[in-house]
Amino acid sequence: MKFFVDTAEIDAIRELNDLGMVDGVTTNPSLIKKSGRDILEVTKEICDLVSGPVSAEVVATDSETMIAEGRKLAEIAPNIAVKLPLTWDGLKACKVLSGEGKMVNVTLCFSANQALLAAKAGATFISPFIGRLDDINIDGMDLIADIRTIYDNYGYETQILAASIRTVNHVLESARIGADVMTAPPEVIQKLAAHPLTDKGLETFLKDAASAGIKIV
Ligand code: G3P
Repeated sequence: MKFFVDTAEIDAIRELNDLGMVDGVTTNPSLIKKSGRDILEVTKEICDLVSGPVSAEVVATDSETMIAEGRKLAEIAPNIAVKLPLTWDGLKACKVLSGEGKMVNVTLCFSANQALLAAKAGATFISPFIGRLDDINIDGMDLIADIRTIYDNYGYETQILAASIRTVNHVLESARIGADVMTAPPEVIQKLAAHPLTDKGLETFLKDAASAGIKIV
């Protein structure tokens, strides 16, 4: 499973990237706002740091302007994936930009039918939002499973990018179902390493090491 990190914070991306945990980065206007940086500047910096796909989202709502924005974003670096919302205009822009050979990430996907349309429009990635479905008491994992089934039924190559991941269980379930990619905030990726039995076991080992006077360097 590929790991994308869902942030525009350079230091957090660098730390995870140095560990080999970053196969790509996703951003959106809210994350750019949170970073306090200029979108073109910070996106360029991320692209210089990470070799995998870096999603940068358009802010227009009509297809013509989305296409113009997508072309401008794609000029930042060859690893840009233009992020487009799953609207009718977004699908039109997806068809044009993917036809030009650009990577496209279709975002704000909340139904399997939407995901089917994105695949037909040539999306490189589809981003179903798990956490936001859970927020309204709909199981986000059912959506990932439905999209997996449909894409496999017809051999669509669009990659399922499980997004709006809030918990380590979201990561586990997405991996079980076979999402191609998951994108999560740095804190969630770090939490994947945590286990109470690891902490407890380490405590005992360290106590025994101290009482036995074990010293290595
Ligand atoms: O990957 C999409 C993500 O940024 C949205 O996450 O937690 O705001 O629903 P969230």
